[in-house]
Amino acid sequence: MSILVTGVAGFIGSNFVYYYLRKHKDKKIIGLDKLTYAGNLDNLSKLNEEEKNRFTFIKGDINDIELLEKIYKENEIEGIINFAAESHVDRSIHDPQIFLKTNILGTQTLLHVFKKYYDERKRQKFLQISTDEVYGALGPTGYFTEKTPLDPHSPYSASKASADLIVKAYHDTYGLNTNITRCSNNYGPYQFPEKLIPLMINNALNHKELPVYGDGKQIRDWLYVEDHCKAIELVFEKGRSGEVYNIGGHNEKENIEIVKIIIEYLQEKTKGEKINEGLIKHVKDRLGHDRRYAIDPTKIKEELGWEPETKFEEGIKRTIDWYLENKEWMEKVITGEYLEFYRRNYGS
Ligand code: NAD
Ligand code: DAU
Repeated sequence: MSILVTGVAGFIGSNFVYYYLRKHKDKKIIGLDKLTYAGNLDNLSKLNEEEKNRFTFIKGDINDIELLEKIYKENEIEGIINFAAESHVDRSIHDPQIFLKTNILGTQTLLHVFKKYYDERKRQKFLQISTDEVYGALGPTGYFTEKTPLDPHSPYSASKASADLIVKAYHDTYGLNTNITRCSNNYGPYQFPEKLIPLMINNALNHKELPVYGDGKQIRDWLYVEDHCKAIELVFEKGRSGEVYNIGGHNEKENIEIVKIIIEYLQEKTKGEKINEGLIKHVKDRLGHDRRYAIDPTKIKEELGWEPETKFEEGIKRTIDWYLENKEWMEKVITGEYLEFYRRNYGS
């Protein structure tokens, strides 16, 4: 028996593979990933020999129905966890179409094959990894609960909300065993440096400007990636069919605060005088920028006993240390494609 996990070469998918194979010595994973600009097999290079024996990598697209059928025919699949997605909001503003293709149609293709091989006695699980962004933006107070109406603003969040509704439709119509998780912003090792935290670490280390969108007072609710992986494991194993679970650790911070925390810790670690707040540059704001996200995680805490374990103060240091110890990883992922996106998004 194996779990089919998609998007394993990305940030959260790769962290999940390590977490799950290390915790469950009897479990096997088949990892499917298209290896887009965001997918990097180096992210999985720290699996040991024993873990590698329980992990099979397949390069492919979640839209490839024949490949999915072949995987099902050749393996006994106990469930699907779908991480695969186009995940960057700024890219979705420049080029929305691939977001619809991967995030909506890809999810439907997975569900189609999942349904075809579904066994009512085994009730295999389909877990869709979604995001808090489907709820839109909050004012200065309040939290997203599972009952908050969907109100996505960016092409990215609209595509994720659409995928959530397709998952719901497959549950409601065909009675499949599905769950959806909606997590807040993750941080940790292996995050692609187009996202706020690794981008700021990389730029600061290279004494480059730190581009803060608008006034920098937008709020995100940060969760260490391993805590997200633990929540996913719980929902995959114990989530009630058809339910949505919000995931977040009540750790709201303004973007500008995050940037200053990174500068301060890098100054301390590198004794680098050139890393200072003078590098901060307020740039043009993101179009349709959501002002605040904040999760109410009561349901997953009460129903499944999930609690975040890593405090932000500790997790951010662990994360920055990881990037300092893995400069080669960063150099490899900053390819021509990355530089082209950077120029397009931030100007010259
Ligand atoms: P990521 O961009 O780092 O990784 C996405 C992975 O999916 C990459 O390895 C990429 O190659 C792969 N992929 C893309 N298109 C594919 C396709 N058509 N077929 C197969 N593989 C494909 O993203 P991430 O930050 O790890 O996010 C993973 C999931 O979690 C996404 O669904 C995202 O919406 C969700 N999520 C992310 C966060 C966050 O803070 N990063 C928070 C909540 C939810
Ligand atoms: O909330 C969950 C979501 O978190 C996930 O669904 C997305 O996949 C993930 O990318 C993330 O989305 P955000 O848009 O919140 O993350 P990002 O790292 O792109 O930006 C975080 C905040 O920082 C946001 O308010 C925009 C701001 N920002 C970002 C970048 C890259 C800047 O000010 N400057 C930047 O250069």
